[in-house]
Amino acid sequence: MLGNFDYCNPTKLYFGEDSLNYLNEELPKYGKNIMLTYGGGSIKKNGIYEQIISILKANGKTVFEDSGVMPNPTVQKLYEGCKLAKENGIDLILAVGGGSVCDYAKAVSVSAYCEDDPWEKYYLRMEDVDNRIIPVGCVLTMVGTGSEMNGGAVITNHEQKLKIGHVFGENVFPKFSLLNPAFTFTFPRHQMIAGFYDIMNHITEQYFSGEDDNTSDYISEGLMKSLIHASRIAIKNPHDYEARSNIMWTATWALNTLIAKGKSTDWMVHMIGQSIGAYTDAAHGMTLSAVSMAYYRYICPYGLNKFKRFAINVWDVASDGKTDEEIASEGLDRMEAWMKGLGLVMNISDLGVTEDMLDGIAKGSFPMEGGYKVLGHNEIVDILKQSM
Ligand code: NZQ
Ligand code: ZN
Repeated sequence: MLGNFDYCNPTKLYFGEDSLNYLNEELPKYGKNIMLTYGGGSIKKNGIYEQIISILKANGKTVFEDSGVMPNPTVQKLYEGCKLAKENGIDLILAVGGGSVCDYAKAVSVSAYCEDDPWEKYYLRMEDVDNRIIPVGCVLTMVGTGSEMNGGAVITNHEQKLKIGHVFGENVFPKFSLLNPAFTFTFPRHQMIAGFYDIMNHITEQYFSGEDDNTSDYISEGLMKSLIHASRIAIKNPHDYEARSNIMWTATWALNTLIAKGKSTDWMVHMIGQSIGAYTDAAHGMTLSAVSMAYYRYICPYGLNKFKRFAINVWDVASDGKTDEEIASEGLDRMEAWMKGLGLVMNISDLGVTEDMLDGIAKGSFPMEGGYKVLGHNEIVDILKQSM
């Protein structure tokens, strides 16, 4: 049965080739001091930086640059960003980049005025925000995480070998996000396909849970079909605007809280993937693809009906004359073939994981209770071994 819920997504989205112009509508709503937050320099190479600087200047803003946000942002970088934001009385953090930059901006937004240590408060103790929050706006340049329309903020602590996401509430969602599919044409193929699988896995994490008849699952099936179709076009022609725009939009819907409403969700692949990320610093989507097949084959018998439905509704597996197990397995085979066709990393050893890391990775993979099977430590180690 569809559970009780409330739903509000406060992020205003501007989508399309002229979306950046709408920065002119948003900027006047905020004070003068803007922290322009970006990564390692891709926005300087593709010209987005110049366009944004000229819009900020035209709106009379004072710009404080916060560059060098790394993929999988670290707790040290978070402390630096907090200092910059607080010392300069920042009125708006404008995040220009992918999930890492957007996540980091949200983490700074709640941490700059936090009197406690933000890593301990928000990540180790998972406490709510009870201090001033700096508003965040995003210009998205990389597709996959959904960070442009959610409260997620994942931070890595390399010393503690932990990568943890805090899912903050609506008060931390970006106030606005500008999505121009053409901005995503320049990211490397490796990043593009990692993003494709991140989207797919966000949907399967929310789909493979529960036995009830639930509207969210039908929406998820539509999103998966759109992604599979468009990814096959984009892999051949990365500059296909139609395919890339559909993928960008699917990514947003895959993790803007809608498809989780009224149902239970799993998130175990993400827990294992994040822990692999803490050990390897690998691209997020690849940490997920590398463990997914072993994980889904392991839990399939516990959620057989849903895996059968997935095979038929998403992968068009014919059901006549086959057992439920055969149908479900064929669906997973087709997903695996699709993943290999994209060129995703399918083994954790290819990400640099070695046998001696497996116990630690399993310890950092926090067990989730919403999926078809609550995994114990040894089961996670077994799944990791299967993924080597
Ligand atoms: O740093 P620059 O130079 O900008 O290069 C980036 C970075 O190296 C590059 N890039 C981005 N846009 C580009 C581009 N290169 C050329 N042209 C462009 N247009 O791509 C690299 C990767 O960027 P990153 O932001 O790290 O990728 P992604 O969007 O996949 O974000 C990953 C982070 O998001 C977290 C992950 O754990 C990871 O830390 N997640 C956030 C979630 C959320 N907020 O809900 C959920 C996800 O499951 C995920 O955990
Ligand atoms: Zn993800």
